[in-house]
This record gives sequence, structure tokens and C-alpha cells, in this order.
Amino acid sequence: MFSFLTKRSRSRKTREDGSQELDRERLPRHVAIIMDGNGRWARSRGLPRLAGHRAGVESLRDIVRACVDWGIGILTVYAFSTENWKRPHEEVEGLMNLLVEYLRRELAELRREGVQVRAIGRLEGLPRQAREELERARKETAANKRLILNLALNYGGRSELVDACRRIATLVARGELDPGEIDEEVINNFLYTAGLPDPDLLIRPSGEMRVSNFLLWQLAYTEFWVTDIYWPDFRREDLRRALLDYQQRERRFGGLKI
Ligand code: FPP
Repeated sequence: MFSFLTKRSRSRKTREDGSQELDRERLPRHVAIIMDGNGRWARSRGLPRLAGHRAGVESLRDIVRACVDWGIGILTVYAFSTENWKRPHEEVEGLMNLLVEYLRRELAELRREGVQVRAIGRLEGLPRQAREELERARKETAANKRLILNLALNYGGRSELVDACRRIATLVARGELDPGEIDEEVINNFLYTAGLPDPDLLIRPSGEMRVSNFLLWQLAYTEFWVTDIYWPDFRREDLRRALLDYQQRERRFGGLKI
């Protein structure tokens, strides 16, 4: 009857509360999250938008801990896009302050937990204080190995590709690279995510079915998981549901089932 289920999924253990146990052998190496729905979460409670972003930081803390506990190697979160500058000045300023506050408040624990903090995006465009705190966090956690927490800040998938093209073109113009040598590996090496594997799983809360200029190159074969839950309500049990669903998927990368 359940012949479509793999042997592995049939043999998966059940937890005390009746939910399924994660298969630790088949966890995604890299999870990416579009932390969406903060504004709607706040509006539905009659609160200012910034209260939603502040609540979103608590979700981030919980999900970072879950990734550490469960052995997920890389977590990339979309915290501020190149388009988010269009928002009212107070919201942008509030988000930048939250980032600074988060890094100051969490750094000791991130260090203790073995989290390596990185950032991707046009970081030079961020306010000075944010850049300084990011640099401090980067330096102080550089040797950590349990989880890479990649904060996408002033990030846009298109601007990342523009920046990569500019750097590659500079090498070509200097005669240091032959255009015929440009392949996918070369392009990968000039992205902000150079050296990291592509995300295996993209999670988008708040029900939107968009990529929103996030990791456009890297998401080529990523599995998507969308939920109606707003990001400030998203907790490790929701991550567990996404991971269990991911573990049922058959990834073929354009090939055929063997
Ligand atoms: C999108 O929700 C969310 C953002 C633009 C900001 C995400 C930031 C955080 C979760 C907190 C700050 C992050 C760090 C690293 C400290 P939205 O505002 O577009 O929500 P809406 O679509 O419901 O309006």
C-alpha cells in the first residue's frame, strides 16, 4: 500500500509526542530562509512594524540554536535586501539598530555555541556601526566550526551577479583570465557565497511564492518549502516540519531516478 515510501522513511522513528524523528543522515547541509512576514505579524496585533522585526530576531535566535543542536552546517538568512532601502527611514534605521543590538547581545553565546558569523551583500553600503559589529563578530567567531550563520545584508541576487561580472571582467581586461576559461566554477568563486555549497533547502514563511532577488544563482536546484506562518511565529518545530518534508523529497538535479 505504501510502496511509494522509501525503506528509509518507513523505518523512521517516531518521537514521544507522535511526530517523526529527523533522519540525521539526511539533513540539508545548507538551509536558506527568507525571514518574511514581520510587518503583517505586527499589523495583525496593532503594533508598529518594528515590533514585528524585533519579534523576528527571537525567531532567528531559536532557529540558530536548532541548527546547532541538529547539526545543520550552514544557515543563510535574508535580513535586509538591496530594495529594502525604499522603506521609511525610521524602519531602515530601526532594522540597522536591531542588527547592531543582535550582534552585541548574542556574540558571546554565538561564540560559545560554535557559530561562525559571516555576512554577504554590499556590506560597504551599511552604516558604520553595523559594519564594525559585523567585522567584530566575523573576527571573533572565525575559528568556529559547528554552524556558519550567513547574514544577507544589503543583499540582492542581481547585484551579486553584477559584482561578480565586474570582478571577472577586471581580470580579463588585465589579461589575467581568458574569457574561454569562464565557467560555472569561476562564477561561483566570485560570488559572495564563494566556497559554500548551494542551499539544499529554501524556507519562505508568510505564504509568498517569490524568490525576491535572493541567491538567484545558488537556488538553481534548491528545494523550496513555503508556510503561511509569519516569521515572528516561526520556531524550531516549524523548521523540523520543513526538514521532514525535505527528507521525503527525491532530488535529481535534472537527471533521472537511478
Ligand atoms: C521582511 O518582512 C523582513 C525584513 C525586511 C527584515 C528581516 C529582519 C529581521 C527578521 C530582524 C533583523 C535581523 C537581524 C539579523 C538582527 P516584511 O517587513 O517585509 O514583512 P511584511 O511583508 O509582512 O510587511
